[in-house]
Amino acid sequence: MSIRRDPPGPKDRDLARRTALAEAAGATLDFLDDPASYELEVTRFDHGSRVPGFREATDPTKDPAQVPDPAQVEVPADLRAEIEDFMSRYPDHKSAAIPALAAAQRLHGWCSPEAVEQVACVMRLTPGYLTAVATFYDMLETTPVGRKTVYVCTNISCSLRGADAVLARLRDELGHDPDVNLRGFECLGACDIAPMASIDGVYVGPIDDEDIAVLAGQIREGADPLPAKQLVRRRVADAAANSDEVSRQSTDTGTLNPVDLSGGQA
Ligand code: FES
Repeated sequence: MSIRRDPPGPKDRDLARRTALAEAAGATLDFLDDPASYELEVTRFDHGSRVPGFREATDPTKDPAQVPDPAQVEVPADLRAEIEDFMSRYPDHKSAAIPALAAAQRLHGWCSPEAVEQVACVMRLTPGYLTAVATFYDMLETTPVGRKTVYVCTNISCSLRGADAVLARLRDELGHDPDVNLRGFECLGACDIAPMASIDGVYVGPIDDEDIAVLAGQIREGADPLPAKQLVRRRVADAAANSDEVSRQSTDTGTLNPVDLSGGQA
């Protein structure tokens, strides 16, 4: 990442707003004496954008994208079947782009050029079309990452209940493990168990201090994370709304496996 300076834009004319922006960015406030001199430091990637992958799908020096030739691209049979199943569920087969890319990511670990080409081959789309989708959606990875996905929600409800400390401590425990894709995330929609995290799609919370080391060990070992604090095992107040038939999608195979709800309830 590099730092460049942006001049103030039309929306930044208001002094109070600019003060808040500068403080949030850790910039100096010497413009207070001379507002015209104000500049805000903006963190940018080396290609000049604040967005990763901004130019990757639009490199004008590349040849026009082609739909891959099926005779030239080897697609694993299971992946092909899964993508075709997704395509059959939508009136417009392009609507299956996200689940198809997610399936390829499960197989390859990330949306690598090879993975994208395989999806493009089955869906009869250009890799560029799919790359545009993959670079837009946060849970589709366009660079190599660890296979174990750990999202710690740092949005408002979780943040107020200590999520930043949870993330920092998990970084201490797991930050150097190349198998783990650990990151902060925006609201994961489970604010009632804040602070919470998603471990390969399994929601756990509220995460207490004493849970951190245990959870880190379970992530390293591939064990079921904090069984007593999993959202799927929580009972709701309306007893008639509870079910003993709950399935969880395997992150390796995509298959649905029943969840054992006996014991381990919060
Ligand atoms: S703020 Fe964390 S799940 Fe909503």
